[in-house]
Amino acid sequence: MVKNKLLFALLLVVAFAIVGAGLSLVFSRFIKFSDTGSVETVTPEKIVSQQGHSAKPDFAFNPPAPQDAPTDIKDAVLLGYNILTNTRKYAAKYVGNTLTCGNCHFKGGMTEGGKNGGLSLVGVGAAYPKFRKRQNYAVDLVSRTNDCFQRSMNGSPLPADSREMMAIVTYYQWISKGVPIYADVPWLGVKQLKSAYKPDAVKGKQLFMQKCSMCHGANGQGTLAAPPLWGKDSFNDGAGMAKLDNFSAFTHLNMPLGNPDLSIEDALNVALFVTTEPRPHFAEKTGQGS
Ligand code: HEC
Ligand code: HEC
Repeated sequence: MVKNKLLFALLLVVAFAIVGAGLSLVFSRFIKFSDTGSVETVTPEKIVSQQGHSAKPDFAFNPPAPQDAPTDIKDAVLLGYNILTNTRKYAAKYVGNTLTCGNCHFKGGMTEGGKNGGLSLVGVGAAYPKFRKRQNYAVDLVSRTNDCFQRSMNGSPLPADSREMMAIVTYYQWISKGVPIYADVPWLGVKQLKSAYKPDAVKGKQLFMQKCSMCHGANGQGTLAAPPLWGKDSFNDGAGMAKLDNFSAFTHLNMPLGNPDLSIEDALNVALFVTTEPRPHFAEKTGQGS
């Protein structure tokens, strides 16, 4: 009797499993993809409300040094760091201007951003793949990095499996150690200035001559002391830095280098002047090198 009951129970379980699998197969066909590519399914409220909106993150800014990487990835991490800090030497054929990644991502992106920190890259290894408006799709770090090669560096994209790209991505991953996947990383990205001020390019030019030209050159072409801000050797018109919002926010926090003292209004004035000066036009170059 007991044996029969057990057998019956077992049969029931198996039957439910088969019906369940069948049903999920049928229902999976009804999951629709909308135009933006999002999947329309029931959203688990609890998980969403817990996601990364806490004021204080439960992890600290503490990137490990490139030279402390484990032996098997150390060469890649160090090459990645070298590319970020001396792009024209270590990834020469993909660069089309006289900039280096570190001119905007100070110290190869190893900083905490904020004042005098430039644009941090610590934690990008945990923040990607990520949705980007420009592509209207989630992009990974290879594609995001090539965006900076093609626009900020006015160059051409690296093959995903090239030694250089592998090194860059390994470097990102190493310096992101300890940052939880998809955490809200407070030091990443450009913090946009909040202002309704309408900038004035004439004031911007005066400010440029007083506050920037001694390092960046009177024609924005760069000097031994600082990289170019416009002209043929600068970032092109498709670059993030060519946008008024990004340029003004970066300048407000970082320039003049070491002593960023421009008001929000003046940062906007100088940004309008510089971003409307002539610079290379973004034209997608494909293939290797340029
Ligand atoms: C004391 C010299 C100095 C002054 C003055 C200065 N900068 Fe810079 N700037 C630099 C240096 C050096 C870098 C590159 C930093 C690095 O590589 O770590 C830089 C980088 C930049 C960058 C990013 C790289 C590029 O060339 O596009 C921008 C944008 C910029 N400066 C804007 C300005 C603006 C606007 C002013 C005036 C308000 C200004 N800077 C004043 C030295 C200076
Ligand atoms: C002229 C300035 C400039 C140069 C040079 C530059 N970048 Fe960027 N980079 C930016 C700006 C601006 C952003 C946008 C930050 C944001 O999304 O808020 C950015 C974003 C990035 C991001 C995504 C960061 C994030 O927070 O999502 C990566 C990765 C990156 N750059 C890598 C590179 C690499 C590698 C190089 C050199 C090959 C480089 N960049 C050169 C300005 C620059």
